[in-house]
Amino acid sequence: MPKDFLSVADWSAETLLEILDRAAELKALLGKGERPRTLEGRTLAMYFEHPSLRTHVTFEAGMAQLGGHAIFLTGDQVGIGRRESAPDVARNLSRWVDAIVARTARHELVESLAAEASIPVINALTDRFHPCQAMADVQAMSECGALDAAHLAFVGDGNNVANSLALAAAVLGFRFSLATPASHRPPEDVWNRALALAEASGAQLVWTEDPAEAVAGANFVYTDVWASMGQEHEAAARRKVFAPYQVNAELLRGAPEAWVMHDLPAHRGEEITDEVLDGPRSIVLEQAENRLHAQKAILERLIAPPNAQ
Ligand code: NVA
Repeated sequence: MPKDFLSVADWSAETLLEILDRAAELKALLGKGERPRTLEGRTLAMYFEHPSLRTHVTFEAGMAQLGGHAIFLTGDQVGIGRRESAPDVARNLSRWVDAIVARTARHELVESLAAEASIPVINALTDRFHPCQAMADVQAMSECGALDAAHLAFVGDGNNVANSLALAAAVLGFRFSLATPASHRPPEDVWNRALALAEASGAQLVWTEDPAEAVAGANFVYTDVWASMGQEHEAAARRKVFAPYQVNAELLRGAPEAWVMHDLPAHRGEEITDEVLDGPRSIVLEQAENRLHAQKAILERLIAPPNAQ
């Protein structure tokens, strides 16, 4: 198993499923007020170039619950590329802490931190991937029914979240339909990787330009913002391109039994209506809650001393 978690495709289905089992166990334990101190004395550095609510709070709370400690660092404070180089930051942090969580604007930066650090590096969102979100999402999906029977439809931008969900489906073997404008498909290398992994796992992966086609028969319908962090200046143009991709009551008539998913924050009234986001089929808060449990399981897997779990 690689020392880092930069993409869900870094790890085998077996490893991902073990982590998801442990995440479910940690969730049940916390529900009973139990917080196993498997990371006693361990320290995590969290480097964030973009804003965060869920990722920051769940990693920091997760470390505290497991008996460890987290240190929050902003991009401005550290100044990679301005104050010092990525390799120097990675090598210094490796001398002090047990792991790094990094949210970097460019995926190449998290890769270079991982290449230079001797400690595990966890991707907390880049322009390409959001693997911790995908793990929490799969946990939420498995709470609604067997993963084998899951059909996840993603409607909107072929972005970091869509990329990670495509890879999760491909590795774990569930069905994934993606509806995006032709101009906003996932990067070709990511989609081809997902198709190659799907061949091995038996997952069905389909892309279409038509949202109604993607959601037909789906039991999960997922959307995300149309302009991701770093693309704010394109927001107005994107609102036009993505207007036909709104997840609303009308679209969901094609999948009346589907659970509705969103990684949040949502731009209410753009990619999703209030009615749907706050409706009875929405599992967005379960997804958000599971960030805590899934990431605790990832942290344990990467930095717990042997026999601590
Ligand atoms: N695609 C979004 C996800 C936010 C959690 C973004 O990158 O801004």
